[in-house]
Amino acid sequence: MAAPRVVNARATRSKGESATRTRILKDGTIESVAELIKNGSAKNIIVMSGAGISTAAGIKDFRSPGTGLYDDLERFNLPYPEAVFDISFFKDNPDPFYRLAKELLPGRYRPTFTHYLLPLLAKKDLLLRSYTQNIDMLERLTGLDEDLLVEAHGSFATSECIECNELCDNSYVRKHILKGEIPHCKECKGLVKPTITFFGEQLPDRFGTLAQVDFKKCDLLIVLGTSLQVEPFNRLITRVPATCPRLLINREKAGEDMHLGFDFDDKWKYPVLRDAVFLGNCDEGVRQLAKLCDWEGELQAMFEAGNIEMALAEELEAMTLAKEAEEEQKEIEERAKAEQESEDKGEEEKPHVKKDTENILKDTHENHQVPKNLEESSSSDDDVDAITDRLQATEISSSKKDSAPAKDDKPS
Ligand code: OAD
Repeated sequence: MAAPRVVNARATRSKGESATRTRILKDGTIESVAELIKNGSAKNIIVMSGAGISTAAGIKDFRSPGTGLYDDLERFNLPYPEAVFDISFFKDNPDPFYRLAKELLPGRYRPTFTHYLLPLLAKKDLLLRSYTQNIDMLERLTGLDEDLLVEAHGSFATSECIECNELCDNSYVRKHILKGEIPHCKECKGLVKPTITFFGEQLPDRFGTLAQVDFKKCDLLIVLGTSLQVEPFNRLITRVPATCPRLLINREKAGEDMHLGFDFDDKWKYPVLRDAVFLGNCDEGVRQLAKLCDWEGELQAMFEAGNIEMALAEELEAMTLAKEAEEEQKEIEERAKAEQESEDKGEEEKPHVKKDTENILKDTHENHQVPKNLEESSSSDDDVDAITDRLQATEISSSKKDSAPAKDDKPS
C-alpha cells in the first residue's frame, strides 16, 4: 500500500452533463441521510475519520490555522511541519518526534461523544468498518470490536525497530518517551518508533486488504473531522459505488477537489446526486444524526457509561503509578542507606538521592496526573482491587458483551 502524502489534486470535470440524473438523497442535508438509515437502506455503513473527531477530547488537529499542531511546531525547528512525521527526517533527527510523542501519548484523553457513534452502529449491526487516520487509539477505548477498526496511519499500540523491524516491548518505549529519552532496539541498537505510519512509509497491509473489499459493499459513507488532504486515505471516498450516499460532518467542506470527490454544490454535475454535508462540530453533527434516527438517548448513555469507565481506569492507573513510584522511592532510599552505612555511618542522606526521589514523583505527577492525595497516602493492593471491581461492574463492561459481533461476511 502506498505511503501517505499530502496532495492538492484538481478534479477533472465530467464531459457534458448526463441527460438523466439520479437522486439518491432527497437533498444534501443530514436529515435526508437519517431518512435513509431509518428506512433501512443503509446496512453497511463505513465511517472514515480524522483528527477533527478528537479535538473535543483536547487533542489538536493538524491543519486548522492557528490551533492545529502544524502551526505549533516552531519550537522544534523543523524544515517544514510534516517533517515531524517524515521517516527520512526521523532517521537523522528523531528528537522532535519523541518530544511531540510525549504530548500525544495515549492514556490522557477520553473518547468524545462522536467516538461512541462507532460502537452504537456496531451494536445495531450497521457498521461495516471504521477507517481512522488517528493515532490516538480513542476508538479502541470505546470498546469497539478491533475487527471493525482500521487504523490507517497505525497507532501507539505497538513499537518496532526501524532497522531490523523487531517488535519492542511497548512499556519500555513508553517509559523512554515519558522520560524524554529515545529508545533503541535491544537487538541491533537501531532507532525504535511506535508503529505510526510516517510520510515515506507503507500503510499497514490491513488497510489495503480490507479497503479493497469493504468499499465495494458500502451503502452509506460517513466522513468525520478530516481535511481529506492526505493520500491514499482521502481517495477512499471515491471507492464506494457510484450510487452510495456520502455524508461529511466537518467544520468546513473537504474532499471536493479530486476526481469522484464530494460534490455538495453540484459543481461537477455527476449523474447521481448523493452527497450531503453538515458544517459544524462533529459532536453537534453526530448528535443531530442520532436524534434524527431516534438514537440520541442510547448514544448519550453509552457516552456517559464510557466516561465512568474511563474515570475508574484513570484512577486505577494513577494508583498503580503511585504505588510503583513509592516502591521505587523505597528502593532508592534503601540503596542509599546501605551505601551510607558502608561509607560513613554518621553522614546525612545524600542530596542526589533526594533529588532522584523528587524527580520520580514530579515525573509521575506531570505525566500521569496522579491525584495529589495519592502522593501522601500509600496506595494499598486493597484500593487497587476495589477500583478493579468497580471497573468490572460498570455498565459499559456489560454493554460491550452485548454488542453485536462483526458481520460474518467481513474479512478478518
Ligand atoms: P487535519 O488537521 O488535516 O484536518 C482536520 C479537519 O477537522 C479540519 O477540516 C478541521 O476544520 C476539522 N475539525 C477540527 N475540529 C473539528 C471538530 N470538533 N468538529 C468538526 N470538524 C473539526 O487532520 P486530518 O485530516 O486527520 O498523517 O489529517 C490527516 C493526516 O495528516 C493525519 O493522519 C496525519 C497528518 O499529517 C500522518 O501523520 C501520516
